[in-house]
Amino acid sequence: MSIVDLRHSGAHPSVSALRVAEYSNSIVHERERAQIFRPGLGLLYLDHRSLWASDGVRRSDGDPRILIGHDGEASCALANLCTHALRPLIDDDSVNDRTLLTCPYHQWSYRRDGSFVGGPGCEFGTGRAGERERQALDLRRYETIDWNGFTFAADPKRRDEFAADLATLDRSLADHGLDCDFGAEWVLHETVDEDYVADWKSFMEVFGDCYHVPPFHDGLAAFADCDTLEWRFGEHFHVQYLDFATEAGGESEHYRAWADGLATDAAARGRPMQSLAVAWIAIYPNLMIELYAGLRVISIVIPTGPNSFVNRAHFFTRVDGDSHVAGLTNSVIAAYLETAVQDFELVETRARGLATAKTLALDNAGYLVQTSGRGVEAGVAHFHDWWRAAMA
Ligand code: FES
Ligand SMILES: [Fe+2]
Repeated sequence: MSIVDLRHSGAHPSVSALRVAEYSNSIVHERERAQIFRPGLGLLYLDHRSLWASDGVRRSDGDPRILIGHDGEASCALANLCTHALRPLIDDDSVNDRTLLTCPYHQWSYRRDGSFVGGPGCEFGTGRAGERERQALDLRRYETIDWNGFTFAADPKRRDEFAADLATLDRSLADHGLDCDFGAEWVLHETVDEDYVADWKSFMEVFGDCYHVPPFHDGLAAFADCDTLEWRFGEHFHVQYLDFATEAGGESEHYRAWADGLATDAAARGRPMQSLAVAWIAIYPNLMIELYAGLRVISIVIPTGPNSFVNRAHFFTRVDGDSHVAGLTNSVIAAYLETAVQDFELVETRARGLATAKTLALDNAGYLVQTSGRGVEAGVAHFHDWWRAAMA
């Protein structure tokens, strides 16, 4: 039984489909930065604990404007801006594992929780008044929500709403025998950054569009069966569940090796082959989690301008992924990349089409989202509705 949000399963396209003028538009981009990508408003992915296990301070995975500090059990999110003259404290993705974070320009120092320690010549009065003067120089701190090792910045007034939504997602995954734990079983294999010349929203559309899989991804469509598509929606997420296809990878050498490898691996372990091939999860605005049999991917789209973004993908493979089938890990990643190259074309052609539509003054043309039947593009409609509400 397919679980489709009724608002996104009708025969009609979404009423709030985004318009041409809402893509690659500098005014819209500035509004998105102020409303959607501003930590402290909404729910915004910052980091995952499996990406770096040590204590210290590092730029957040999802937003270079934000620092993540870890100190024992405690972690916090801080503005990456020195309070002396607003220069970034950290300019690359390395981990600062010193006890103090010191700005290189005039040597102001901060603890890992962002509290100000001092700087050359900085003097404060005594007692509570002096302490208040010092605290006024602490780094700006953001409230966070932790979920399965993921850290999000969250609007403190909406914590309960976000926690309830993430709990719904956990329950939905559990109903399918899954969880979002990237613990001991999974190891970070590699991280790949890919630059795009397009609006970040077009990537989220491609992610919520199962419609293109059969015609455009020969290998993936022969690995995961789109006829079994099942949706689950929350306020801030959607999930697509797909079972294995009987073609077991079809003509694609990499997907066939993946499907065959999983069957051999399951037989060697004396386990039945699972029926679920993948769960694709999008958590708005820009986080995607893909739970495949044999591969997990955390990826984010990070806008870098009105018409540019970076897609950062972290590949996690099973610690013992190759123990029964030599080379299975490499086949799995090669298959994924085969599809990623095809998706690059989908994003790129959509960007070109939107630019052409502007030159033809087709500003009101919308995305005619296909939501009939199993709702193959229901994720696109849901994302558009979410975006419309977040920008209101
Ligand atoms: S800019 Fe950071 S100490 Fe001056
Ligand atoms: Fe795709």
